[in-house]
Amino acid sequence: MRIFSGIQPTGRKHLGNYIGAITQYVAGQDRGEAVYCLVDLHATTVPYDPAGLRESVYDTATTLLAAGLDPDRCIFFRQGDVQEHAELCWLLASVTAFGDLNRMHQFKEKSGAQRDLVSAGLFFYPVLQAADVLLYKTNEVPVGEDQRQHIELMRDIAERFNGRYGEIFSVPEARIPEVGAKIMDLQYPDSKMSTTGGSEQGTIYVLDEPEAVVKKVRSAVTDSGTEVRRARDKAGVSNLIEILAAVRGAEPEEVERGFDGSGYGAFKQAVADEVAAYLAPVRERYAELRSDEAELERILARGAERARSIAVETMLDVRRAMGVGPVRVSQ
Ligand code: AMP
Ligand code: TRP
Repeated sequence: MRIFSGIQPTGRKHLGNYIGAITQYVAGQDRGEAVYCLVDLHATTVPYDPAGLRESVYDTATTLLAAGLDPDRCIFFRQGDVQEHAELCWLLASVTAFGDLNRMHQFKEKSGAQRDLVSAGLFFYPVLQAADVLLYKTNEVPVGEDQRQHIELMRDIAERFNGRYGEIFSVPEARIPEVGAKIMDLQYPDSKMSTTGGSEQGTIYVLDEPEAVVKKVRSAVTDSGTEVRRARDKAGVSNLIEILAAVRGAEPEEVERGFDGSGYGAFKQAVADEVAAYLAPVRERYAELRSDEAELERILARGAERARSIAVETMLDVRRAMGVGPVRVSQ
């Protein structure tokens, strides 16, 4: 079974990314052939600083390594190193419905947030994402809840391609965790935790110092009640229950039972301490690994070579099926 996921190299990864996606990437290394990609091409769809992008790729690469990605047990690379992603993106455009792209929630949100230019790249973002996944004939895509629609779209693209040009792609399944697929902002628990849209106080970063984590959790918005249980009108408390369940690898019901009658103060303190302890080893390991950029480049270059060897084969099939590019005489 092949697993693929991509993550934006935006440097400051948060607890939502960590629980929703990164822990699944680490687990994927034991479940199948895992391929993970830092999507620098996607990062160019909104305004960005070119020199900063390279730094952010190193930051995010280091965060993933510190979390437990092992370049010997997965293929770990930078999207821009493997040109086949961009080529397949274009070729998949022929089987992508304009109307479907127009319906993407993420496009609507991100385009609404742009001040001057809404780039065509932002509109095309989901096609590049489909190319990322389909290039590796992927079976499973670990992501958080916010990516569900993009995965549905790539399934449609794969099916339409296979129907029109012949069976080349696997139709991938999303793997969205049961607990922690959508971690909410601690200050605005009706919005998801996010680097771009969220509040600074309500966003726990993977690299936050333990004191900062404790402070953010202790000042999390709750409600005027006292019961530690999940409910529609208790978005803040529900989010904290979900976070603690994910950190403990337990069910949310167990967390609710454990804090029955204890009040919000003790509950928040437990969440604060356990989240801080959960992230501390990652932060420490990050500090050890981040400065050796030459080593990071070596890891990514080796990953790109391994990724390319799969991608090149897929592109031969795709070009042949679509009748583009030179005729290949021998196989
Ligand atoms: P990004 O940093 O946008 O590339 O996201 C990386 C991964 O984290 C994706 O699989 C997202 O679905 C996931 N993710 C982002 N925000 C959250 C959140 N608040 N809760 C859970 N997962 C998230
Ligand atoms: N769009 C994803 C996000 O914002 C990142 C991504 C790019 C991705 N390519 C991918 C995720 C392929 C899964 C598979 O999080």
